[in-house]
Amino acid sequence: MKESWSSVWKKKSSLPFSNNYKTLLLMNGWDTGVSSFSINDWKKFINLIIKKFKIKKGDKVFEIGCGSGAFLLPFYKKKITCYGLDYSSKFIKTCNKIMKKGVFIKAEANDLKKFKRYKFNYIFIHSVFQYFDSMYYANQVMGQLKKISQKGTKVFILDVPNLKKKKTWEQKMIKAIGKKEFDKKYSNLNHLFYPKSFFEKFCKRNNFSLEIISKIKLKKQSSQYRLNYMIKV
Ligand SMILES: C[S@@+](CC[C@H](N)C(=O)[O-])C[C@H]1O[C@@H](n2cnc3c(N)ncnc32)[C@H](O)[C@@H]1O
Repeated sequence: MKESWSSVWKKKSSLPFSNNYKTLLLMNGWDTGVSSFSINDWKKFINLIIKKFKIKKGDKVFEIGCGSGAFLLPFYKKKITCYGLDYSSKFIKTCNKIMKKGVFIKAEANDLKKFKRYKFNYIFIHSVFQYFDSMYYANQVMGQLKKISQKGTKVFILDVPNLKKKKTWEQKMIKAIGKKEFDKKYSNLNHLFYPKSFFEKFCKRNNFSLEIISKIKLKKQSSQYRLNYMIKV
């Protein structure tokens, strides 16, 4: 049977539970050579976002594709109200265990109806867009964002594979792990790469503003092939 990303995440989410960052990051797939970093770098990256965008207690923060909760945990520790969605039920269980006052619901990223009663101040989608199986699905996700936003909502779509860098990424990966391993790893499990125009067109259609935030980057090798977008509703 062909392996799918959802089966990969199902497996990762079934790792034995522990509420330390090391395990939570491992569950979220942050363990391969090109995507590994220190726990300190992780916390620094998230705390910088919180500081730069003045996210504070009382704000409603929602993460789509929240996995084990490793990204939301620094927000939660600052008493910011956290909401999350993931298509893996085990991940949702883990989030509920480590962030008892949060709201975590199992759902597909292109179906936000269970959240439509909320209007969030900040929406994060970190390192998830590459796992969507088509641009059609990604477009559906973008369309859904409008239902849970209000004027002033900031939507951060982070760690998005940059189509302009796809060839260089492939060449670097093949050099690092060899063609055989590359084909084995990525022939069934594709990463979807996005042109900047995908986000520009969405913002133009909806009269939202778009910014690339290149200064806030997680210190990891693959970040050079990715872009961080911020949409202001
Ligand atoms: C690389 S992990 C990132 C987790 C977390 N955002 C972080 O930054 O640590 C990708 C996550 O996206 C979730 N995911 C991927 N595709 C999804 C989809 N179509 N709907 C909901 N969740 C999805 C996976 O289950 C996994 O938890």
